[in-house]
Amino acid sequence: MANFDILCLTFWISLVVFHSRLAEGSLLKSMHFSWGTQQSRFLGNGDEATLILDEVSGSGIQSNESFLYGSFEMLIKLVPENSAGTVTAYYLSSTGAWDKHDEIDFEFLGNVSGQPYIIHTNIYTQGGGGREQQFYPWFDPTADYHNYTIHWTPSRVVWYVDSIPIRVFKNYQSEGIPYPNKRAMRVHASIWNADSWATRGGLDKIDWSNAPFVARLRHFRERACKYMGPQSIRQCGAPTPANWWSSVAYTQLSDDKLTKLNWVRNNHMIYDYCKDLRKYKGLMPGECFMPQR
Ligand SMILES: *[C@@H]1O[C@H](CO)[C@@H](O)[C@H](O)[C@H]1NC(C)=O
Ligand SMILES: *[C@@H]1O[C@H](CO)[C@@H](O)[C@H](O)[C@H]1NC(C)=O
Ligand SMILES: *[C@@H]1O[C@H](CO)[C@@H](O)[C@H](O)[C@H]1NC(C)=O
Repeated sequence: MANFDILCLTFWISLVVFHSRLAEGSLLKSMHFSWGTQQSRFLGNGDEATLILDEVSGSGIQSNESFLYGSFEMLIKLVPENSAGTVTAYYLSSTGAWDKHDEIDFEFLGNVSGQPYIIHTNIYTQGGGGREQQFYPWFDPTADYHNYTIHWTPSRVVWYVDSIPIRVFKNYQSEGIPYPNKRAMRVHASIWNADSWATRGGLDKIDWSNAPFVARLRHFRERACKYMGPQSIRQCGAPTPANWWSSVAYTQLSDDKLTKLNWVRNNHMIYDYCKDLRKYKGLMPGECFMPQR
């Protein structure tokens, strides 16, 4: 890891220009549609997009670049009214061999009108997933755009909703717990039919009379280390005050953020794999015994 940081340092000076270009990034400049219906598209000045699910297909976008660490923010307005059976996702995913797969997920499980979405989170490290934690949103995620940010650094992954940390996965690699730090990841957002499991465990199916289902994205921003291949590893932005790389959040969460994290987890968390003794037959994953903050 020390090597990575030195590499980053050497790039700082030459990258002031690079960084300011990133800061102006937009959905259109950073992403492309990788699958799905023709109706899904970039809108406005290119900083908005629709993800559409209809009877024919869902759809998805992915970033052109891949990254090794960064802060990735997206404003998302979820499918309104009867969204049962639909899943909208915002996630980072590694390319290459599945047995070493890394992934950091936000998934939004739709519901029938008036019933709450579930904010479903997961993380795969070196091929292993199954680390789900779920939350009920404390707001209506379909009424307006909300800020979903994945903050991925060498020391921890933090999932933020409107700047409130809802989950932390700390790097305990020194204790033998795998951490996503070997593979570059692309940013993805998509919508698809998941009515076999998403809503009340698959009891509520998609009502196609409501199709097309539309999730709206806006204001994608990455402050990230661009992956440059195995030779140069990655390029990070300059350590300006606005830059995640030198921010306090990079090294630790403030007391205020920790208070918010506890508030969400005490009041809005509905599932935690670390408490699912049956799933693991009592042999809980190592990170479940370590402080996550
Ligand atoms: C991103 O990738 C897509 C598909 O490969 C390509 O059409 C598009 O021009 C690329 N965008 C940028 C800004 O490089
Ligand atoms: C979104 O949340 C992240 C993490 O808290 C924050 O850095 C960023 O400024 C927020 N963006 C907007 C547009 O509010
Ligand atoms: C949908 O609503 C039901 C009933 O309130 C609730 O049990 C469930 O957790 C909600 N969310 C999903 C995605 O099933």
